[in-house]
Amino acid sequence: MALVIVLCLCSIQTILILLLHSLLVGVKAQMQASHYTCSMINNYTEGSIFQSNLNQLLYSPLNNNGNNSIYTKAREGEDPDKVYGLFLCRGDVVPKDCKNCIDVARERIQRECPLKKQAIIWFDECLVRYSNVSFVSMLDASISKILYSVENVSQPEQFMGNLSAIFDNLTAQATTINLNLKYADNSDVINSFDGKLHALVQCLPDLSAVNCVTCLKTAFSGIRNLSLSIAKVPRGVRILLPSCNLRYELYPFLYASVPPSTRQGNEDEGMSSLHKKPNFPGNLFEGTFSHYFSH
Ligand SMILES: *[C@@H]1O[C@H](CO)[C@@H](O)[C@H](O)[C@H]1NC(C)=O
Ligand SMILES: *[C@@H]1O[C@H](CO)[C@@H](O)[C@H](O)[C@H]1NC(C)=O
Ligand SMILES: *[C@@H]1O[C@H](CO)[C@@H](O)[C@H](O)[C@H]1NC(C)=O
Ligand SMILES: *[C@@H]1O[C@H](CO)[C@@H](O)[C@H](O)[C@H]1NC(C)=O
Ligand SMILES: *[C@@H]1O[C@H](CO)[C@@H](O)[C@H](O)[C@H]1NC(C)=O
Ligand SMILES: *[C@@H]1O[C@H](CO)[C@@H](O)[C@H](O)[C@H]1NC(C)=O
Ligand SMILES: *[C@@H]1O[C@H](CO)[C@@H](O)[C@H](O)[C@H]1NC(C)=O
Repeated sequence: MALVIVLCLCSIQTILILLLHSLLVGVKAQMQASHYTCSMINNYTEGSIFQSNLNQLLYSPLNNNGNNSIYTKAREGEDPDKVYGLFLCRGDVVPKDCKNCIDVARERIQRECPLKKQAIIWFDECLVRYSNVSFVSMLDASISKILYSVENVSQPEQFMGNLSAIFDNLTAQATTINLNLKYADNSDVINSFDGKLHALVQCLPDLSAVNCVTCLKTAFSGIRNLSLSIAKVPRGVRILLPSCNLRYELYPFLYASVPPSTRQGNEDEGMSSLHKKPNFPGNLFEGTFSHYFSH
């Protein structure tokens, strides 16, 4: 009898764990979807030429821009219904994962921003953007999203100094060395009191170097302003702007810091960042997602 009860308890517990797990997976999927911005003023109408141009654009073929990153600019239709688009992966993401990410993003952007003439969606490993106005080499440094860890570093002033050093370094790399991609990341340059810093910067590749620097400086000032407004320095922050983005964490989230053998993932899932890299708490939406706020 006791055994039966124990078994029952166990299985109820198992069921609860399973339920909780599926709930969490749902939450994670929502977290993935939550980093988007849709214009509220420019709407198109159902069945319009703009809509059919947009549908065509969103399913444009992707070009492999050399080694890792896939970067595709696309445009579809004629004025006044012309639509411009961009598909861009994080600079360290391999083409297969990149494509998976974009496939999810281009479907999701329509769901999250129905009937919008302008929208951007950011995933961990890629972004998709479209607009009825050409934007690819235009600077738009308005902060769209700030995501940050609720956990804080213990030496805020020193840490801000370390951050400033690393982002200066990465900005210089992205705008002088890695000019084609305007992307730079690091894994082993800066140690802070709280641990090794992992960081990246990325601009839209067609942005001029000068505008890229401006955008990244604005993004960095977003970190300062955030830490002033919450009176602490988070252990991880992502700042997302239309023209650039940056991120730092005190745990490894870059592919460069993860051996390829641990990166096998579920290839059927578009959201590769959700389903692989099981051996480290390596991304925003996995493990640490509940500690992040969206600002
Ligand atoms: C566009 O649609 C949103 C709702 O999705 C609405 O709030 C807004 O007023 C619309 N804008 C215009 C210009 O119609
Ligand atoms: C984009 O769409 C908005 C709203 O329909 C319109 O006012 C604006 O003129 C369009 N811009 C271009 C470049 O077509
Ligand atoms: C690919 O990367 C290698 C070394 O990192 C570089 O020499 C080469 O130019 C890159 N190819 C392209 C097309 O960017
Ligand atoms: C960035 O830091 C690395 C490692 O300290 C250094 O080798 C490199 O020269 C720096 N790059 C720039 C552009 O400051
Ligand atoms: C981090 O900042 C502290 C204090 O400014 C400094 O002592 C340390 O050298 C910095 N670390 C690196 C790697 O720059
Ligand atoms: C940060 O605050 C400063 C001073 O208030 C302001 O000039 C700057 O625009 C702010 N930066 C961002 C990205 O909001
Ligand atoms: C930051 O976290 C540490 C623990 O790591 C805590 O002792 C400290 O009070 C916190 N500082 C702030 C400003 O929240």
